[in-house]
Amino acid sequence: MAQLSLRGITKRFGAVTAVDDVSLDIASGEFVTLVGASGCGKTTLLRIIAGFTKADAGELTIEGKRVEGVPPSKRDVGFVFQSYALFPTKTVADNIGFSLSIRHRPKAEIAERVKELCSLTQLSGMEDRYPHELSGGQQQRVALARALAPNPMILLLDEPLSALDAKIRALLRSEIRAVVDRLGITTVYVTHDQEEALSISQRVAVMNEGRFLQVGTPMDVYLKPSNRFVANFIGISNNLSGRPIDGGQVEVEGRPVQARVPEGLLGRDSCDLCVRPENIDISRPSDGSDAMAGKLTSFVFLGQMVRARIATQAGQELVVDTSTSHWLANGLAVGDPVAWSIRPDSAIIFAPDDASGSAADEDPAPGAS
Ligand SMILES: Nc1ncnc2c1ncn2[C@@H]1O[C@H](COP(=O)(O)OP(=O)(O)OP(=O)(O)O)[C@@H](O)[C@H]1O
Ligand SMILES: [Mg+2]
Repeated sequence: MAQLSLRGITKRFGAVTAVDDVSLDIASGEFVTLVGASGCGKTTLLRIIAGFTKADAGELTIEGKRVEGVPPSKRDVGFVFQSYALFPTKTVADNIGFSLSIRHRPKAEIAERVKELCSLTQLSGMEDRYPHELSGGQQQRVALARALAPNPMILLLDEPLSALDAKIRALLRSEIRAVVDRLGITTVYVTHDQEEALSISQRVAVMNEGRFLQVGTPMDVYLKPSNRFVANFIGISNNLSGRPIDGGQVEVEGRPVQARVPEGLLGRDSCDLCVRPENIDISRPSDGSDAMAGKLTSFVFLGQMVRARIATQAGQELVVDTSTSHWLANGLAVGDPVAWSIRPDSAIIFAPDDASGSAADEDPAPGAS
């Protein structure tokens, strides 16, 4: 049985449908992330689970019991808000112990729990400091410890790391995952950062305009996006056009590419391909190769890899990721002709101008390349 179950959850604010018929079962101890662009309904859905916002329709159960009308304090749910919202005039210890002190737990028990949580979240020695005496990362740890203090069954985290710089974010997300795994707490995590979603989660729900477009493991949503929106939102995707030849081949710019063509597209005169930058190979053109032709338009060095942009002969723009060693071996300069090819069975094929094969029919994500 799912520990947390959403069935047809819908919430409208006037003309805006913030959450639109969302269903999901989350198992005990599972770590699920809601990922989507700003305004897609992530916070609203989290607030509905916590009980701060009432859904207009749908059913929400925790441990099999419907919780409509149950106040947040009685739902056994911990919440870390989008802003840390620490009490500025309380110390770290008093912030963490707050929920226990309003429940009139004995002082010794609170002190013991605070000590335990400080050690778990690497705050030991900072108990007597005030929030303004802490770094952003430390304040975030206090917010996490405070949410964990009453030992909730479910933990909800709303973009807890968005105010931090990239390095501390990467560190803290692995800390958060380690802490909740150790405690076995069911966690729903919200972020608009797809890399964060892939790295921290057991399952990812990709949201757009209040709906779930795909729910799956990080590898599933990256390698097998169920529609074009997901392909473009999770990671970078090159969108190319081609023509299905048979079940295992597509013609792209006059050359055959090995790819799995969905049955419904056989016999059609065109299809769209989504290809990840790491699944395109480029090299100097050589005689007799059946690679496609193009020209290097720009590149950036990113350390272990080089991200290049090429213009194909047919005028399509592609992003290509190449290992730095391969790049150096090629010795390409901007303006040089290149040969490019798509790795066998790496392209994901969709019907043209129709995002799916599935229910969704959204345009590619704005800003996605
Ligand atoms: N209390 C409210 N009254 C009116 N509209 C609201 C309210 N809360 C949210 N909305 C609207 O509902 C939609 C979803 O908002 P929500 O805060 O859930 O988005 P989000 O995915 O958390 O975005 P972000 O990543 O920016 O935090 C938005 O269009 C927002 O303007
Ligand atoms: Mg939000």
